Amino acid sequence: GTTLGASAAEKGRYFGAAVAAGKLSNGTYTGILDREFNSVTPENEMKWDATEPSQGRFSYTGADQIVAHAQSHGQKVRGHTLAWHSQQPGWAQGMSGSALRNAMVNHITQVATHFKGKIYAWDVVNEAFADGGSGGRRDSNLQRTGNDWIEVAFRTARAADPGAKLCYNDYNTDGINAKSTGIYNMVRDFKSRGVPIDCVGFQSHLGGLPPSDYQANLQRFADLGVDVQITELDISGSSQATAYANVVKACLAVSRCTGITVWGIRDSDSWRTGENPLLFDGNGNKKAAYTSTLNALNAG
Ligand code: G3I
Repeated sequence: GTTLGASAAEKGRYFGAAVAAGKLSNGTYTGILDREFNSVTPENEMKWDATEPSQGRFSYTGADQIVAHAQSHGQKVRGHTLAWHSQQPGWAQGMSGSALRNAMVNHITQVATHFKGKIYAWDVVNEAFADGGSGGRRDSNLQRTGNDWIEVAFRTARAADPGAKLCYNDYNTDGINAKSTGIYNMVRDFKSRGVPIDCVGFQSHLGGLPPSDYQANLQRFADLGVDVQITELDISGSSQATAYANVVKACLAVSRCTGITVWGIRDSDSWRTGENPLLFDGNGNKKAAYTSTLNALNAG
C-alpha cells in the first residue's frame, strides 16, 4: 500500500489517529486524515466532562462531528473513554459512594446507547491501575466506590451496545512489569468469570524504542483470548523512526493485534508540546518516522 491505512488493511489491521473536532475544518488536517487513516479516536470529545457537563444533561456536539466525519470517510471509531478518574466534570469529581457509582452507570448507559452501532471498540475503563511496583489499582473516587467498579462498567457497556468491542486501556504497560501484570491478572479473572471484555489497549506513549519484551507482552494478553490494540502511540527521541517500525513489527507479529492508533496527526497537534512525537511535521509533511512506519506495514 501507499498509505498507512491501506497498508495496514492489507495486513488485516487498521491504522488510526486521535482527532480533535475543532480541527475538522482545517483542510491540511483533514487532507492527511482522510488520505492516511482508516480509524479515528476522539481525543477529548467523548470524555465524561465533554459528554455530561452537568448531571443528566448530555452534550455530543464534538463527538457527533467526529463520528459523522468518520462514517462519511469509511473510518472506524474507537470510543474514548467511558470511565476514567481524570477529565470528570466538576459535579462528579466531588461525588462518592453509591451516588457516584449510579452516576457512572447512568453515564455509561447513556453515552454507549447514543453511539450504539457506530463504535468499533470502546475504551470502557481508562488508566485504573497504579504506576510503580504494587500491581494494584490506582486510588480514585471511582475505585473508592468498590473494587467491582471496573466489571460493573464493562457489564453496563455490553448491555448498552452489544456490538462494540469492550477494551481496558492504560499506559506504562508496554513491557512486562508490575502494572501490566496487574492488568493481566484482572483480564484473566474477567475471562474466567464471564465478565465481558474483548480487548486491551496499550497506549504506548514512548520515549524511544519500545521495551524488548513489547511483543511478548502483547502476546501474553492475546493468549488470554482478547484482542490487543496500540491505542495512543507517540514516540519522542532520536530513535523515533526505528521505534515506530519496531512497534508496527510487534503488532503484525501478534495475530490478535488488530490495529494501531497514533495520538494525533502533526507534531503541532500533539499533547507532548515540543517533543515532535508524531508522523507528520507541523506543516503536514511526512517525517522519516512516517516512512519507516509505512515500510514496516508493507514488509513481509
Ligand atoms: O477545551 C478547553 C478550552 O476550552 C480551554 O480554553 C483550554 C485552556 O487550557 O483547555 C481546553 O481543554 C484542554 C483539552 O485538552 C482540549 O484541548 C484541557 O485543558 C487539557 O487538559 C486537555 O488535554 C488532554 C488530556 O488528555 C487531558 O487529560 C489532551 O488533549 C489529550 O491528548 C490527553 O489524552 C490522554 C488520553 O485521553 C488518555 N491517555 C493519556 C493521554 C495524554 O495525556
